[in-house]
Amino acid sequence: MLKQEQLDAIAQQITRCRVCRRRKIGLPVPGEGSPEAEVVFIGEAPGKTEAVTGRPFVGRAGKLLRQLIKEAGLLEEKVYITSPVKYFPKHLTPTREEIEHGRKHLEEQLAIIQPKIIVLLGRVAVLALLKRAVAIAKEHGIIVEADDRRYLIAYHPAAPLHSPKVRAELLDDFKKLKNLL
Ligand code: URA
Repeated sequence: MLKQEQLDAIAQQITRCRVCRRRKIGLPVPGEGSPEAEVVFIGEAPGKTEAVTGRPFVGRAGKLLRQLIKEAGLLEEKVYITSPVKYFPKHLTPTREEIEHGRKHLEEQLAIIQPKIIVLLGRVAVLALLKRAVAIAKEHGIIVEADDRRYLIAYHPAAPLHSPKVRAELLDDFKKLKNLL
């Protein structure tokens, strides 16, 4: 089966997944981008705009993420964007259980795409894949090798919305990606 077909099959599973849907609102947001992506960006959970469109990172933080991807010299069409939690949580911040459950779908997506580097956008993404709490302000920009994978820790793109300093730091971190490919 082609990688795209395998990703579509996982999107179907997410659509039907009762555990994913519990205490959530709107459409499933499985992720989008190239099945051959060398870089996968992982966020937290869909927000309101994502729940209406079914697309990841299309609200304010998402627009900034897509802008910074371009500014860092990467093509949006050549990356993949997703989150550990696949539906908009009513309670906004996903629980550990929700992150743990969503990680199973996410791991399947990563096993298909096999990116060269995974960008962990914020603490929920770090918790999901590195399974530890992190102080992003201290650890952003760090490359972590774990489980035969390479990760870059970065701010969640909602963080710089009101801080030009954090925006510049996030862009600097993204600029490291090109050298890692
Ligand atoms: N924020 C996230 O972390 N993920 C999305 O898909 C949208 C906003």
